[in-house]
Amino acid sequence: MNDNQKILEIKDLTLRIGGKCIVKNVSFKLTAGRVMALVGESGSGKTLTAQSILKLFPPRIYAEGSITFKGKNLFELDKEEIRKIRGCDISIVPQEPATSMNPVTRVGEQIAEGIRQHQERSKPDIKQRVLELLRMVKLDEGTFSSYPHELSGGARQRVLLAMALVLDPEVLILDEATTALDVSIQKDIIELIMNIQKERNLAILFITHDFSIVNLIAHNVCVMRKGVIVENGTKESVLHNPQNEYTRRLIACVPKLGDTRRRLPNNIS
Ligand SMILES: Nc1ncnc2c1ncn2[C@@H]1O[C@H](COP(=O)(O)OP(=O)(O)O)[C@@H](O)[C@H]1O
Ligand SMILES: [Mg+2]
Repeated sequence: MNDNQKILEIKDLTLRIGGKCIVKNVSFKLTAGRVMALVGESGSGKTLTAQSILKLFPPRIYAEGSITFKGKNLFELDKEEIRKIRGCDISIVPQEPATSMNPVTRVGEQIAEGIRQHQERSKPDIKQRVLELLRMVKLDEGTFSSYPHELSGGARQRVLLAMALVLDPEVLILDEATTALDVSIQKDIIELIMNIQKERNLAILFITHDFSIVNLIAHNVCVMRKGVIVENGTKESVLHNPQNEYTRRLIACVPKLGDTRRRLPNNIS
């Protein structure tokens, strides 16, 4: 990885709740135009790691290490400075979409809210921008006036993407963005994310527990287990030549990938 392109670096991130260490010495880098998949079973610490980037973790958490965005250690910034970075530079689509959408506000207004919080723009100008975003995520303009409950799961996920991208961030964090969707809809959303990622040269942190999705979307992979990164490398090296037993087990859970590995000549398992 060319170090000059590095946008965000997590170094020795350690998170404790009470006396318990939940995430330990986690380090990885995000690069413009690349997708880093953070993979691991439920409870391994993926969401807390993602939340740490924007200091969104629960208040009882004690964090150590550094998270550097374009030379600034985000842990040293105050609330207002972090607020400016959130959405403008780094955006997150959280694991619990219900918490990021208001059921009684029309979709267009919810996307517009992100603009209003950060920029002084005229009403027609904001509406133009929201319609542009809806087109980008391949939703029709009528979605502007819809309420979240009127949309399908896939369409809601597209709206969440539009909300995250409205201020044109450089880093996008997607926490289990496709987990709740049917497989065919997952594919459409992944395709959309990949197209947007290429168009905008985004650095993406894609959190999932599913190696079949890693295979579709990632350039690089970090495998996390019980709060520790147990494997980190390019997608090809991690999928075809996993060094860690836990990674091998996760890959074996996906039948097609498991088959591919069995056909490889230098299979270690
Ligand atoms: N607010 C919290 N208070 C106490 N423990 C928590 C809290 N949030 C998460 N945890 C614990 O931290 C561990 C990692 O959680 P999480 O980051 O959500 O994992 P993942 O996203 O990989 O499923 C889990 O064991 C979970 O129980
Ligand atoms: Mg999670």
